[in-house]
Amino acid sequence: KDDEYDESDVRQLTLLMQEMWGLIQQKRTDDELKNYADELSNANEELKQNSEKLSIANKELRSLDKMKNEFLSNISHELKTPLVSIIGYTELVDGGGMGIVNDKQKKALGVVTRNSKRLKHLIESLLYMTKAQSGTVEYTFEHVNISEIIENTIVDMKLMADNKCLTIEKEVPDDLPLINGDKEKLTNMLNSLVDNAIKFTNPGGKITLTASEEDGNLHITVNDTGIGIAKEFRSNLFKKFYQIDSSTTRRYGGTGLGLYISKHIIEVHNGKIWIESEEDVGTTVHVSIPI
Ligand SMILES: Nc1ncnc2c1ncn2[C@@H]1O[C@H](COP(=O)(O)OP(=O)(O)O)[C@@H](O)[C@H]1O
Ligand SMILES: [Mg+2]
Repeated sequence: KDDEYDESDVRQLTLLMQEMWGLIQQKRTDDELKNYADELSNANEELKQNSEKLSIANKELRSLDKMKNEFLSNISHELKTPLVSIIGYTELVDGGGMGIVNDKQKKALGVVTRNSKRLKHLIESLLYMTKAQSGTVEYTFEHVNISEIIENTIVDMKLMADNKCLTIEKEVPDDLPLINGDKEKLTNMLNSLVDNAIKFTNPGGKITLTASEEDGNLHITVNDTGIGIAKEFRSNLFKKFYQIDSSTTRRYGGTGLGLYISKHIIEVHNGKIWIESEEDVGTTVHVSIPI
């Protein structure tokens, strides 16, 4: 340029410089963006690999769980079969079906029967649990008379209650409607609730079973004057294996499956189960089944 630079040249040069600066900045952002994109793609790849690993681990776990359930189910079945024959023969001998039995022998046979039945019940609980998990519990629905089930439960549990000096009563109206249900399962459920009531009530206490019709539902309650359940434990009661006192030195037997199974049985009947309790006063378990 021959002549001197004037103001307009300076302005143009400044504009040019600004443009170049802009381009440099742009390039820098592009590079950064590219780096980020690379990083993101790497992270993505890693995520994909981890997700595949997780899915494989998941599959293995599921298969192990299935194996565990099958094993438990088989072993329970195998344990139950001989027990049934032990109980059958013991009762046969006890009943005099194989000759005269003296009082001492009768007492001993009674112990064998009682303990075998306890073992059978435990095995049945385990079997139920594994079947519940795989959704293969079989139900037979028919018209059932709850009043009859309550009466049978009281007869079944009377000895246990007597041994602990507990009274056991029922308050059931004569005109109770029938419900559609599985008689055996409902009997088991009620037995298990009364078993708890007996277990957690001190001698001299009282257990009351009631049933009534309420707004299209059959409302059953099992009330005891026992030790009660503190608030903080109530939300866990229906979980598998849950027991408030699970220490090895605890006073009460059991496996913590009773309420879990009871809840499952009630839910198959489209019903509800809930617990009201006050410590040192007593507990009421409510069951409501649509009629
Ligand atoms: N009627 C009751 N009174 C006081 N505690 C109860 C009563 N019923 C259940 N529980 C508490 O709930 C726990 C779970 O009950 P359950 O599932 O029947 O198991 P298990 O009887 O084998 O211990 C019991 O261990 C006990 O702590
Ligand atoms: Mg129980």
